[in-house]
Amino acid sequence: MSSSDLEKARERVTLLRREIDEHNYRYHVLDQPLIDDQSFDQLMRELQELEQKYPELQDPDSPTMRVGGEPLPAFEPLEHKVPMLGLDNAFNEQELHDFDGRVRRLTGLDRIEYLCELKMDGLAVSLQYENGIFMRGATRGDGYTGEDITQNLRTIRQIPLQLPEPVTLEARGEIYINRAAFLQLNRQREEQGLPVFANPRNAAAGSVRQLDPRLAAARPLRIFLYGLGEHNLDQNSQAGLLAYLDQLRLPVNPNYALCTGPDQVWEYCLKWQDKRHDLPYETDGIVIKVNRLELQKNLGSTARSPRWAIAFKYPPEEKATRVLDIRVNVGRTGAITPVAILEPVTLSGTTVQRASLHNEDFIAEKGVRIGDTVSVHKAGEIIPEILGVIKDKRTGDEKEFQMPRKCPSCSSDTFRLSGEAARRCLNPSCPAQLVEKLIHFASRRAMDIEGLGPALAEMLYREGLVEDVGDLYYLRSEQLTGLERIAEKSASNLVAAIEKSKGNPLRRLIFGLGINFVGEKAARLFAEKFGHLDRLRTAEEEKLISIPEIGPKIAEAVVNFFRMPETGTVLEKLEQAGVNFTEPVGPDREEESAHLAGKTFVFSGILEDYKREEAAALVEARGGKVSSSISKKTDYLVVGKEPGSKLDKARDLGVEILSEDRFKEVVRQ
Ligand code: IVH
Repeated sequence: MSSSDLEKARERVTLLRREIDEHNYRYHVLDQPLIDDQSFDQLMRELQELEQKYPELQDPDSPTMRVGGEPLPAFEPLEHKVPMLGLDNAFNEQELHDFDGRVRRLTGLDRIEYLCELKMDGLAVSLQYENGIFMRGATRGDGYTGEDITQNLRTIRQIPLQLPEPVTLEARGEIYINRAAFLQLNRQREEQGLPVFANPRNAAAGSVRQLDPRLAAARPLRIFLYGLGEHNLDQNSQAGLLAYLDQLRLPVNPNYALCTGPDQVWEYCLKWQDKRHDLPYETDGIVIKVNRLELQKNLGSTARSPRWAIAFKYPPEEKATRVLDIRVNVGRTGAITPVAILEPVTLSGTTVQRASLHNEDFIAEKGVRIGDTVSVHKAGEIIPEILGVIKDKRTGDEKEFQMPRKCPSCSSDTFRLSGEAARRCLNPSCPAQLVEKLIHFASRRAMDIEGLGPALAEMLYREGLVEDVGDLYYLRSEQLTGLERIAEKSASNLVAAIEKSKGNPLRRLIFGLGINFVGEKAARLFAEKFGHLDRLRTAEEEKLISIPEIGPKIAEAVVNFFRMPETGTVLEKLEQAGVNFTEPVGPDREEESAHLAGKTFVFSGILEDYKREEAAALVEARGGKVSSSISKKTDYLVVGKEPGSKLDKARDLGVEILSEDRFKEVVRQ
């Protein structure tokens, strides 16, 4: 190897790193990517190859060095030179006026300028940069000593490993997870039989404190920076400081505002009271900071909190309602889930009428009875949840609920297996399970058979036309037209949709079969590893476990599934019908997972077929972004029923407007 080769490689590596950092910033911070994911991956691959070929060019600050690292036995303590204090709280307008009064008295000024910021509901961290290089990062801990989570922070692409200026400073901010990503993460965990996170904050905190950085890297963590610890910068206001952080390419929440006096501050708080629910992340209040840093310094801090700032906390959305009834659902795996039917209440803008009671232990723990008045909230502002019973409201007429000992669908005995919270119906021919299996098989994320929803699945089963998913492929449209509410046109549409699903890649089929604990991710791993269903079918447990991320529980479930005689019958029907059992490898996959890369979506109004979070998850799963407000950067506004002012704004800015049907096409493509 000649030295000029090395020099050429060095130049190329420098250029590639600069370019990749730039694209990372544009994609993860600005939300304005210039290139698609494939081109980005290509740059990364080229850099990786050069670094491998010329080890002398390796550098811990290279963008290739974000993921990886060995799991730690425990986190090391890291001391905060400047303590990370908490904030005092204000719960109403009067307490904000009191705060302003105190500040005015202590400073001797009669009008104070405040900088108001959204209070992110996440986890506080500090990032230390030395000469522009990211050196260390820590959690807040007890405010004086935190935990060194540097390895995990390095995996967050929004955090630059190198700043554009060689400054030494400690930036402080909040790690969080978007609501849609939280939902998706929980769905994945549920499928894998793992406990779900109660809310996005717990998900963020749990993720950033993972001892294995590879696991942390797989979590959709994000960050906003809002302040400084130790530094020697000569900024003179909080507003200037935020602008400076932004200039350093550190992500800053753009929704801050300068307010003069407590009335303007209150207006800002009111403005965000409802609007905050449209943001893709959770906020639990407003942080009000004296804008001038010199005044901040003069005001100083108590042992607990600075005198120059206060947090206005929105009242948690929690309401009382009555449990009208408790019903049970039988899921596709036979799990029997109790659900509380509630007197309708409005919470965070939508009407809530039911809340899952999970299992009998949950009911016992909360002591919920039919007729009880309960307090409900939305976990992560999304999932209705019963917080507890208001016992004072009991009249004595409440009825205790017993989980059914017989399956409500097929009347076989129900069992609680050891180590499980759920009571199950174990009858493989239970009608409720079979119908749920059909629904799952046809669902959007599985075989995506349009038009085959719960009502139709139920009818097909009831009419004896379909007993398992294999039978779907033998339906003829004449058989359907006779059925209740099915016109000729929709019968032929359904048959066509079923026909079309035959060509789906293997991972959709594996997911659709509804094997216990096999979610979309495991299904994809299996499809990629084996390429053909028959190879998965005959694989031994050890072989399955050898796939990274597949544990013994999933492996055992797969082996058991393929051992069942019923499975053999279904697979034979599918194969005879010509359903695809293979996985196209390579580019196909990337195309599907990223065809919306670089596109920003905004939603307005109520969608018929999706909850807002589900629609957002669809976009994000395909590489797109979802934003809460329209700007020139927006690519699509998706409008449902009763769209608001966003529609006018989109028209003004010439943003493409999509109906729900068009949205489905764009997402599916
Ligand atoms: S300033 C000394 N600004 O709220 C001032 N904090 O209760 C320290 N938080 O530990 C905090 N958003 O985790 C500040 N825009 C914001 C914030 C914010 C969220 C959190 C932070 C802090 C807690 C204080």
